[in-house]
Amino acid sequence: MVKAKMWVLKKHFEGFPKESNFELREEIVPELKDGDVLVEAIYFSVDPYMRALSRMWMNEGDVQYGTQLAKVLKSKDPEFPEGCYVLAECGWRTHTVTKSKGPNGPILTQIVPEWPKDIPMSLALGSLGMPGLTALYGLEEVCKVQPGETVLVSAAAGAVGAMVGQICKIKGCKVVGSAGTDEKVAYLKELGFDQAFNYKTVPSLDEALRNASPEGYDCYFENVAGPFFTAALNNMKSGGRIAVCGGIATYNDTTPQMCPYPHHVIITRQLKIEGFMVAQWKHKDEESVKRMLQWMKEGKLKTKEVVTAGFENMTTAFMRMLKGDGIGKAIIKV
Ligand SMILES: NC(=O)c1ccc[n+]([C@@H]2O[C@H](COP(=O)([O-])OP(=O)(O)OC[C@H]3O[C@@H](n4cnc5c(N)ncnc54)[C@H](OP(=O)(O)O)[C@@H]3O)[C@@H](O)[C@H]2O)c1
Repeated sequence: MVKAKMWVLKKHFEGFPKESNFELREEIVPELKDGDVLVEAIYFSVDPYMRALSRMWMNEGDVQYGTQLAKVLKSKDPEFPEGCYVLAECGWRTHTVTKSKGPNGPILTQIVPEWPKDIPMSLALGSLGMPGLTALYGLEEVCKVQPGETVLVSAAAGAVGAMVGQICKIKGCKVVGSAGTDEKVAYLKELGFDQAFNYKTVPSLDEALRNASPEGYDCYFENVAGPFFTAALNNMKSGGRIAVCGGIATYNDTTPQMCPYPHHVIITRQLKIEGFMVAQWKHKDEESVKRMLQWMKEGKLKTKEVVTAGFENMTTAFMRMLKGDGIGKAIIKV
């Protein structure tokens, strides 16, 4: 008999998430039928999209969605034998009986067999997983960055942003990042960012962006929205490209923020602004993860994790990630 613990969304978020939005429950998992697999979570990821897309993707009473790194404990599916490691779209639950595919696509994805023993598997949820792929595709597929170009990235010390900066350096670009503490700014410089500033303490965002790159920016990797987006637009070069990845400064709004209509600058500088979802390039994931693993082995990619111990602390870890506590990818170790 295997007992699963799970976090359920009890009440939809209003503003910033609270402990009372969630409830911890338990259930006995069912016996396996043909084609079923029983997975046990080892690491969980908490990500901003869990706040941003909650009302769109979830009903009250659903298990909170999300990805986990898990081990196959029992299997009636020969493609996922006992003992193999998988990324599992099973949500915030410790044990799950599932098929490998669902109506919306794969639920289980095996970790690439080439995964080196000296690289922690938790990175499959971070730098070498969804956030790393987001950085790569935003730069290669949306911005189409070229050597010598100048790239700006916001939320730069986070899971996506830190990878954006380092991939820019691999590609021979100049990169400028913004983050919310001086400690994060120092970390960005350690990672090789050419310029970095604390967006919370600079007297003027516009001036900080101009000082960091007086000639302007070819590309902006947008993670935050709000006044930062307006300041970034005003500092783009003609023909600049903006990859709209996220808008975390708006996720907890109960009423929409107002901003100046930016048409003049978009038109006169002929800017391209393109939203994207990492899943658009799912068919490239395996090759892309191998490419990033190689960069990591060569010492070109560094990474930090903020690890919270204990499944019971998932909700706290989720809220701390949204607030920007700690440097690096937020991970929960069961
Ligand atoms: N389009 C896609 O497919 C896709 C995929 C993954 C992620 N995303 C988006 O990418 C962005 C970064 O995600 P991540 O996983 O790398 O998260 P993260 O950066 O690791 O964590 C979120 C960070 O956002 C910053 N932040 C919080 N509130 C803010 C505010 N009001 N203004 C500015 N910054 C704020 C905090 O850093 P500071 O201390 O620096 O403020 C915090 O550390 C998010 O917007 C996310 O939704 C999109």
